[in-house]
Amino acid sequence: MKATAVAPANIAFIKYWGRRDAKLRLPYNSSISMNLNACITTTTVEFSPCYHADEFMLLTQNKFIKSSLELKFNELEKERISAHLDRIRDLANIKDMSKVVTINNFPKSSGIASSASGFAALTLAATAAAGLDLSEKDLSILARFGSGSACRSVPDGFVEWLTGDSSETSFAYSLYRASYWDLRDVLVIIGSEPKKIPTSAGMDNVTTSPLWRVRLRALPQRILRIKEALKTKNFVLLGRIIEEDCLEMHRGMQTQDPPLFYWNDKTRKIMEAVYNWRKDGLAVYFTIDAGPNVHIICEGKDEQRVTGLAKTIKGVEAVISNKPAQGTRLTKEHLF
Ligand code: PMV
Repeated sequence: MKATAVAPANIAFIKYWGRRDAKLRLPYNSSISMNLNACITTTTVEFSPCYHADEFMLLTQNKFIKSSLELKFNELEKERISAHLDRIRDLANIKDMSKVVTINNFPKSSGIASSASGFAALTLAATAAAGLDLSEKDLSILARFGSGSACRSVPDGFVEWLTGDSSETSFAYSLYRASYWDLRDVLVIIGSEPKKIPTSAGMDNVTTSPLWRVRLRALPQRILRIKEALKTKNFVLLGRIIEEDCLEMHRGMQTQDPPLFYWNDKTRKIMEAVYNWRKDGLAVYFTIDAGPNVHIICEGKDEQRVTGLAKTIKGVEAVISNKPAQGTRLTKEHLF
């Protein structure tokens, strides 16, 4: 009753911000994302009568930290993970407690979707350990209950999460495989401090922004445009829509009550640098999630130039270049 899964984080090109049903985590709008090959969570779950309570261990390991470092889940996070394990125990009709060991190769809670890769890996590892063999669609639905964006880390490559009109119809599917388009997400890390306001709490107030309705009205058309950009591999169109949607989501966050400010001075500096590089003829666009770090989207042919430029910006802690990645999968390499 032990299984291990590997899941990628994902970057949203069209963002998910706000839930019309918080309990079922049903979003107000569909979102579109790309899986990231260099921001990965690996999780091993074992159910056994030997455990008297769920035990968790969270590690981080990357090239900046020589040996793996143990981090702590806070109480709320532990409750959220246990609640997810309970859903899986109910489905599998088992009562055993579990041991969960999980390792991220990127900082937790810093606007890099650790909840997405984390809950996607947990969902696949725990269901497999419990003896369930779920379809990709059912895994995506189940992962959504842990964290909305996690449902997008399940399928391959470029993904759409459908709003749906019920739990069964709100899942993510692959629009294109990872090999479809050689894009990069050059992730510029300027702060790996945990964020103060978790996205779940932030999303509760989404409707207090006067701009929320404006974005919701604009989204169906924007989603059609971005799908066209993906279909025709029109990078300039894709980049413009990605930036447009990011800025609109953040304007919404900043005008919520209470307002949410995820950017800092370094974030703004990088956004400006991206504009300047673009003026100089480099095809680059930015997007930012619920944290200060900036994702610079470019084509594979410009990767070296973009990473080189990003590293010259003062205050940058790390630059992680991501290719499109396959979705969540099982591995035989257990963590314990
Ligand atoms: O599902 P969560 O709690 O990881 O929320 C994700 C929210 C954003 O990262 C800001 C946008 C998105 O679509 O990923």
